[in-house]
Amino acid sequence: MFKSYRKEWSFPEEITFLNHGSFGACPRIILERQDKLRHELEQNPMDFLHRTLEKRLDTARERLASFVGCSPECLVFVSNATTGVNAVLQSLDLRQGDEILVNNHEYNASRNALDYVAGLKGCKVICVEIPYPVQSKDDVIEPFLAAATPRTRLAMFDHITSATGFIMPVKELTERFNQLGIETLIDGAHGPGMVPLELEKLGATYYTGNCHKWMCTPKGSALLYVQQGKLEKIHPPVISHGWNTLRTDRSKYLIQFGWTGTLCPTPWLCIPDTIDYLENLVPGGWSAIQKRNHELALAGRDLICRELGMPIPCPDEFQGSMVTIALPPDPQLRPPLLLRFEAILQNRLWEEHRIEAPIFFWPDFKTRWVRISAQLYNSIEDYQKLAEALKKELSLGY
Ligand SMILES: Cc1ncc(COP(=O)(O)O)c(C=O)c1O
Repeated sequence: MFKSYRKEWSFPEEITFLNHGSFGACPRIILERQDKLRHELEQNPMDFLHRTLEKRLDTARERLASFVGCSPECLVFVSNATTGVNAVLQSLDLRQGDEILVNNHEYNASRNALDYVAGLKGCKVICVEIPYPVQSKDDVIEPFLAAATPRTRLAMFDHITSATGFIMPVKELTERFNQLGIETLIDGAHGPGMVPLELEKLGATYYTGNCHKWMCTPKGSALLYVQQGKLEKIHPPVISHGWNTLRTDRSKYLIQFGWTGTLCPTPWLCIPDTIDYLENLVPGGWSAIQKRNHELALAGRDLICRELGMPIPCPDEFQGSMVTIALPPDPQLRPPLLLRFEAILQNRLWEEHRIEAPIFFWPDFKTRWVRISAQLYNSIEDYQKLAEALKKELSLGY
């Protein structure tokens, strides 16, 4: 039912990889393409980086823009979503006393970037509590809106949360914040490739997303989208030549993000090939990939919940290709011992069973959760293996 494309990836036979969510994984053929580009670059770094890079990046940007539904003028490359979040936060003209909304599911690195900027500028960070599991969109929307005040300048939220792996109602949130005149920054680290994107229609002010996760491009490839009309004020966190450019042939936004110092641009240049390769690998292309991965994640979830005797966490509409499932409570495990057991169970899965699946606490060191991912190289047998391994390790007291 779920055809596996595992041979297209580099995983050794003995590994069960159920953690696409953390860093993604790139197919072999794309890595070969990247190698070719890297060799080409080293044959004449001047020609590649100085004379032809801008044109090459333009071509890649145009292809990515059509994939995520926005004008290429609004889209730039960054190395990862962390950089995208930092770029926006560090560029905003924030004032003392301004308020920024965030929530308790926010990825730690992005939250740190926010706290850093808020600390420099004297802004107040207001963290709203969203339950997990969520049962309705209002579980997310209501606490956010209740926290908005006339001083709120920005609302920052994930598209798909990291540890808890659920899809936020981003369309509704952006609409409501737009009505209030509050800018939105969406941390879409897991968005591109996992769910269909129409960035312009979504209406967020800023959206950053990784290509190296669910689009399976080489690591170090991500995007930043900024709404028309706001482009000129957003700059990269690293200031380079573009800051005092005299060029007028393109926006300062494109110029500044087009060069942030010497680096290897090949992850970005592989984006068009990766889009095309996966589109052609699976009958039905990207929409079939997203449907397959979503259905496999749900099937894996159902299997694990059944085997462990645990409830299904969220309604299906909240799940993309990741699901975070509660593990049975163990009354023997108490903090601080519990804290150690998180890493121990995850390590046991790897060391004893050669399974990669992250184990988290949520929200307060009382419950342990396992997050599963579903990508083209996974099949339903992978979740059966995980369920067996979890049952064995839990019965041994881990
Ligand atoms: C929601 C979220 N934001 C940001 C990131 C950071 O991604 P990167 O390390 O590629 O910057 C992650 C990584 O898992 C994430 O889940």
